[in-house]
Amino acid sequence: MGWTNTSVAAALLLLLLNAVTGANAQIPKLKVDLQSPASIKSAAKVVAANLMTYYRGDEPGQTPGILPGPPPGGDYYWWQAGAMWGTIIDYWYYTGDDTYNKEAIRSIVFQAEAPQNAFMPVNWTASLGNDDQAFWGMAAMSAAEVNFPNPAEDEPQYLALAQAVFNTQASRWETQHCNGGLRWQIPQHNGGYNYKNTIANVCFLNIAARLARYTSNDTYAQWAERTWDWSEGVGYIKPDFNIIDGAHVEANCTDLNPVQWSANAAILIHGAAIMYNYTKGEERWKRRVAGLLNRTVEHFFPDGIMVERPCELEDRVQCNVDQHSFKGYMHRALANVAIVAPFTRNDIVKVLRTSTTGAASSCLQDGTCGFRWNINDYDGDRNRGPAGQQMSALAALSTLLLDQDHVNKGPLTNSTGGTSLGDPTAGSNIREIEPLAPITTGDRGGAAIVTVIVLVSFVGSLGWMVGPWAES
Ligand SMILES: *[C@@H]1O[C@H](CO)[C@@H](O)[C@H](O)[C@H]1NC(C)=O
Ligand SMILES: *[C@@H]1O[C@H](CO)[C@@H](O)[C@H](O)[C@H]1NC(C)=O
Ligand SMILES: *[C@@H]1O[C@H](CO)[C@@H](O)[C@H](O)[C@H]1NC(C)=O
Ligand SMILES: *[C@@H]1O[C@H](CO)[C@@H](O)[C@H](O)[C@H]1NC(C)=O
Ligand SMILES: *[C@@H]1O[C@H](CO)[C@@H](O)[C@H](O)[C@H]1NC(C)=O
Ligand SMILES: *[C@@H]1O[C@H](CO)[C@@H](O)[C@H](O)[C@H]1NC(C)=O
Repeated sequence: MGWTNTSVAAALLLLLLNAVTGANAQIPKLKVDLQSPASIKSAAKVVAANLMTYYRGDEPGQTPGILPGPPPGGDYYWWQAGAMWGTIIDYWYYTGDDTYNKEAIRSIVFQAEAPQNAFMPVNWTASLGNDDQAFWGMAAMSAAEVNFPNPAEDEPQYLALAQAVFNTQASRWETQHCNGGLRWQIPQHNGGYNYKNTIANVCFLNIAARLARYTSNDTYAQWAERTWDWSEGVGYIKPDFNIIDGAHVEANCTDLNPVQWSANAAILIHGAAIMYNYTKGEERWKRRVAGLLNRTVEHFFPDGIMVERPCELEDRVQCNVDQHSFKGYMHRALANVAIVAPFTRNDIVKVLRTSTTGAASSCLQDGTCGFRWNINDYDGDRNRGPAGQQMSALAALSTLLLDQDHVNKGPLTNSTGGTSLGDPTAGSNIREIEPLAPITTGDRGGAAIVTVIVLVSFVGSLGWMVGPWAES
């Protein structure tokens, strides 16, 4: 089902012919009727199968749980597979297709890495950001919220895994610079350790809010509040609800990087909507959710179809592999918001529908989908992370099935049937990757060398690739 050389060549030829002649491409498109749940399910199944052709972790000799990588060994950083399993969990929740469940369970357990079980595998230290860890943590949290089949009793459980991510991150909250916040990277020798970025902080807020709602333990909610207040105070959440990318500790977080990625807005609005629900509709959180939704729709859904604005320009796409996966997080987040903050439902369903129409129009019959959703055609974009755009199209199709009884009941909690077992102390005794001892002069040479070879993840992109990008 994936790209064979022949199909690539054929597709290229047809695209070329199309460009030259202006005739409609004859590549068969994916057929789907978005009014029909059965049709959405069968289209999603084809796109899911296509996505999973990029996953090799189930083959002999391969590492369970990961997509090929990290660069230069393959296209994908470790975090993206965490996001992929989250997408697969949602796919099962919305469609009932359990084809990939076993592999998802095995992957989450394996990459949690015993005995710490906190999604901090030694292998991926060189690209381990708080956001990377959190994408796996959010997948575990989703699994708990939807009663995804639990791992065996002697294996780590989803709720405890999310708590381990929360506990390790809460212990990294640092007030010495910028009066609080999480840094981007976890190991202090990683490039980007000096960046306090929005994604690390909104992921933490997201997990904290969901743990509060799931366990009814208000300590988590207080952390979500604190993280919102800090992010707003330091200027990452703007009064007009634009969400910017972050700033550096050397400048006490005053050198704001204004680029607006959809992933930041998506993870934040999801967390805010959960807080709205947890607080039984507090006005403060309602205002925040409404403001974020308004700005999100205006900014990221021009003409109702999602566009990753900093890098998806009218005349060219310069989004990297990470960014090719962002649209799916927005669709999944908004579907959750519609459910837990019902006052948003009509607006959200409307935009999910128009945007998914665009997503579906980017797909070919074999489930290959494009990155651009607003050209009513497959864009031929396959060099920078096809798995990411497959995840996005899959998320768009799946979440359009939100109008089902089990979904309308909302994410489960410990008191409404959620069966995942927790451990409030999970992750609290683990050894951090490096002690936060001051770097001595003797260490600096070594540190510099380590930094040079370090592979930055989620985003070298989020942090540094802002230069020539048009932003409005
Ligand atoms: C770490 O890498 C080794 C060597 O490739 C592999 O055997 C092991 O399964 C990996 N562990 C994780 C958690 O990916
Ligand atoms: C650093 O930033 C924080 C948060 O904006 C602020 O509260 C604090 O006063 C600043 N410290 C310095 C030394 O400027
Ligand atoms: C609530 O969560 C906090 C933070 O993890 C933890 O310290 C506390 O023990 C929890 N309370 C209960 C009753 O589980
Ligand atoms: C956002 O709010 C503004 C001002 O209230 C309003 O004019 C606009 O229509 C809203 N946009 C959306 C997409 O809801
Ligand atoms: C919280 O979510 C549930 C599930 O969707 C919903 O029934 C309830 O109305 C929500 N609470 C508020 C205050 O909107
Ligand atoms: C979850 O519910 C079970 C059964 O009602 C209870 O024993 C357990 O303490 C609860 N756990 C949390 C974290 O509240």
